[in-house]
Amino acid sequence: MATAYDIVDHDYDVIVLGAGGGGLRATLGMASTGLKTACISKVFPTRSHTTAAQGGIAAALGNIMEDDWHWHMYDTVAGSVWLGDQDAIAYLCHEAIPSVVELEHMGVPFSRTEDGRIYQRKFGGHTTHCAEGEMAARACAAADRTGHAVLHTLYQQCLKHKAQFFIEYFAIDLLMDEDGACCGLLAFSLEDGTLHRFRAKQTVLATGGCGRVFESCTSAHTCTGDGNAMALRAGVPLQDMEFVQFHPTGLVGSGCLITEGARGEGGYLTNGDGDRFMPKYAPHEKDLASRDIVSHAEGVEMREGRGCGEDGDHILLHLEEIDDEVLESKLPGIIETVRIFLNIDIRKEPIPVVPTAHYCMGGIPTNIHGEVVNPRLGGPNATVPGLMAVGETACVSVHGANRLGTNSLLDIIVFGRAAALRAAEIIDPDSDTPSSPKDCEEKILERFDALRHNATGGNPGQVRAGMQKIMQNHFGVFRKQDSMQEGIDMLEEMSGQIADIGVTSPDLTWNMELVTALEVQNLCQQASVLAQSAMVRTESRGAHIRDDHEERDDENWLKHTVAWSEAGRVDIDFRPVRLDTGRDDAKTFPPTERKI
Ligand code: FUM
Repeated sequence: MATAYDIVDHDYDVIVLGAGGGGLRATLGMASTGLKTACISKVFPTRSHTTAAQGGIAAALGNIMEDDWHWHMYDTVAGSVWLGDQDAIAYLCHEAIPSVVELEHMGVPFSRTEDGRIYQRKFGGHTTHCAEGEMAARACAAADRTGHAVLHTLYQQCLKHKAQFFIEYFAIDLLMDEDGACCGLLAFSLEDGTLHRFRAKQTVLATGGCGRVFESCTSAHTCTGDGNAMALRAGVPLQDMEFVQFHPTGLVGSGCLITEGARGEGGYLTNGDGDRFMPKYAPHEKDLASRDIVSHAEGVEMREGRGCGEDGDHILLHLEEIDDEVLESKLPGIIETVRIFLNIDIRKEPIPVVPTAHYCMGGIPTNIHGEVVNPRLGGPNATVPGLMAVGETACVSVHGANRLGTNSLLDIIVFGRAAALRAAEIIDPDSDTPSSPKDCEEKILERFDALRHNATGGNPGQVRAGMQKIMQNHFGVFRKQDSMQEGIDMLEEMSGQIADIGVTSPDLTWNMELVTALEVQNLCQQASVLAQSAMVRTESRGAHIRDDHEERDDENWLKHTVAWSEAGRVDIDFRPVRLDTGRDDAKTFPPTERKI
């Protein structure tokens, strides 16, 4: 029997959980069309992880060189290794242009060309003429702080449109009715410990990725994929979770991101012999090949004994040959980060880097309107009433097996906006707000109480460290059946510890140990799904590289995995990839040998 809590009720047309770029773009769109909208966030909005996005947002504006959104689409499809859904990719690349112009009009302080247009730089995997031409300058950048600039502008716009914010509230779980529809969520205020029932006609999950499943990642400590875990507990699957992007240039030690824009401005990588190795792996794109290719190449160099340093455990990124003026105006954040963390002046010395977990291509399956899909509700495209997801928490799927750099800021803007357009279409502001059954709420509070009152349970930080080590060692850049099986067995051995996580105090006011405990349970649930999904896919595609199945296998594996998790058991099924764009202005790019 759960503790009897006094719960504060709130009724909205829409609630958005998460105040990163996707959450804020959705909130802004919904509030500006007159829907009663609230955004709930565990951190202050401008501290959300979008602030860490550096290099740019992709759009074929053609400000520096000739460009075309169809070429952007080709690159995204090929970069996804044909696992991305082409209707969604066509929408992404087509909408990129008006979406970036709209951001500019909202006030995003983009860097400028000499003639005053938005500055664009080269980025990995972005080409012209469908990989027949030179690399494309397509990343619209605000120096190396593009995410920061976008996030602040969106927050200001949300305030202008009178969206309501519930800041420093932690969501415990979704409120679902007997038919599988979402009616809102239950959360508590970190500041005063009060419990809140948010009822809404649409709930939008915009909670970001689960990078903290890994020991070394570029993600903020808050990136615990809370929305993914809430979806799993509500009977909603996660799609393509085996695909985790490793960024080729995470700073040694801290894992801080060193933007790919650094290579876009002319930087290059060398191994322990001092050789530029990328031309060997990607003769055309070289250091600007797709991330999966560069990270894999770095891994091979280190594994074959050509790493840098005494232990051969890193690679060097050289920016010393770039003009100081370019470094200072286009990469000021990188100068500062590398100085703070390693006391290195990038104008004089190379930067030690390693492939570092950076982005989850998988997540909650959605259609191009942001509506959540659950095939168990009636076919591969059946939607969950009342539930949407946008941003890294969602899998639309535009990134497939490997995301191109700068397509993530684009994803959050385009699909945050798409969700808002859809909500305006389907929500009747005069209709009643749905309410969830009592037993759903009781189940949520029982889990919450079990953690909160378990004073003799295990330390959440220790459980997290154990899980992260397993994931880092067994599900990293290189994967293999026996090692992954060992990892899965170790996770299973930990299941008792995970269920028995406790906290030293049941206090609800600023109890960060309780927040950590809830986050760790969320992370562990996703770790199991990630591990099982990786085990099942017996091929190499994009970021999922298996030493025991080295080839891509379209015949058997041109399909999405969808995984449900119930009572510690993971069930995996499949969904077809949509190759048809469903529109007259964009042809399908059929699977072929990958050139980029
Ligand atoms: O390298 C970067 O600036 C990262 C960009 C991205 O992940 O899109």
